[in-house]
Amino acid sequence: MSSTKRPCRVSSLLSEALVADPHGAYARLRETAPVHRTTTPDGEPVWLITRYVEARAALADPRLSLNKANAKTSDAYRSSMPPELDAHLLNMDPPDHTRLRRLVSKAFTPRRVEDLRIRIQAMTDELLTTSAGPRVDLVQALAVPLPMGVICELLGIPEAKRRDFRTWTDTLFSSTPGAATESRIAMGQMHQFLKSVIEDKRNRPTEDLLSALVQARDDQDSLTEPELLSLAFLTLFAGYDNAVHLIGNTVLSLLLHPRLLAAVRVGDVPIRSVVEETLRWSPPFAMAVRRFAREDVKIGNALIPAGSRVWISIASANRDEREFPSPDVFDPGRATTHLAFGYGVHYCLGAPLARMEAETAVRSLLERFPVLELTVTANELTWWPTFHKRGLRSLTVLTS
Ligand code: HEM
Repeated sequence: MSSTKRPCRVSSLLSEALVADPHGAYARLRETAPVHRTTTPDGEPVWLITRYVEARAALADPRLSLNKANAKTSDAYRSSMPPELDAHLLNMDPPDHTRLRRLVSKAFTPRRVEDLRIRIQAMTDELLTTSAGPRVDLVQALAVPLPMGVICELLGIPEAKRRDFRTWTDTLFSSTPGAATESRIAMGQMHQFLKSVIEDKRNRPTEDLLSALVQARDDQDSLTEPELLSLAFLTLFAGYDNAVHLIGNTVLSLLLHPRLLAAVRVGDVPIRSVVEETLRWSPPFAMAVRRFAREDVKIGNALIPAGSRVWISIASANRDEREFPSPDVFDPGRATTHLAFGYGVHYCLGAPLARMEAETAVRSLLERFPVLELTVTANELTWWPTFHKRGLRSLTVLTS
């Protein structure tokens, strides 16, 4: 283990101040203990990787497994998910992962994403038309409903069930204390609902991802029922919340940099570059999915014993001064080597869709409102209290 000048338990990172500004804590760790043994809030040991080169290598390292079977003890990772919802890409390693990803890629094609562009624009326009100023919470008015609509379109959720779908999703994503029972109930309802939707798509296929997944074939191979259900769930978990926060974080990046905002408005800086720099500067998926060492693994000066849990901080790697000069400066002109969508075989399947949603949302927002101003200072913004994601709870602006 590398030397630790300043001991730092991950549980302390949970404190509100550090959640609001994790970058100071990560900067210290990168300097003093880039591969740091610490403890999760529930008392489990975990190794935290914070530098860019090590993080990128770890994301693609086959010795670091996403399969829970490689955890040291059977209870080292407790899942709140029923097993039929757990058979997805982010719990698998090659060759199982390779087979599943090949089948999913047959359904989740660039063409399918491109076909969503017109719907995404129409949904954005509708949301912005109904957002009456002058005070608007852009999280509720735009950042949440747009990705929800996109996921419903993508999966082919029938119009009549979209309200229920949104209610269950909101319950699943609200991490308020005491919400565990409600969350379990919502999970059960969502599970049953997705089962019935998959059955429908099998009998009456439509033009959507779920129908395409049901039909995806590779030689004699196709997706099993648990795989289909798990993939539908993964699409929701990986695709909804992250997209919400990318939209919120991108708008915030602009509001915090008024000169840049002005340059974007006159077309001197492309919105695409602002989205890309937001992905580096404020990545929504701030911590990669936990890995388990299949064998003793040496990373930097640290020897991580077989079975250990490993966390890779995307938020920290993206601010590593060894990779990004002046990493705390928001500069849309820099090269885009960030790790916001991961790296290696698990690289995000939804990256083009996420980019399209954020670019459409921000472009349309700027067109709709010639004036946009924050109503609070940067220190007064409220973030979800977790270091696994970076997302705003609200973003109220004055518009005109
Ligand atoms: C801003 C939005 C998004 C971000 C920041 C994001 C981030 C990521 C990251 C970091 C991974 C790799 C995780 C790891 O290796 O630990 C990942 C995987 C994945 N993402 Fe995304 N994602 C976003 C949007 C989406 C969307 C919109 C979808 C689908 C609709 C999606 C579907 C997936 C899937 C299926 C995987 C698993 C790929 C595999 O294991 O082969 N993501 N995402």
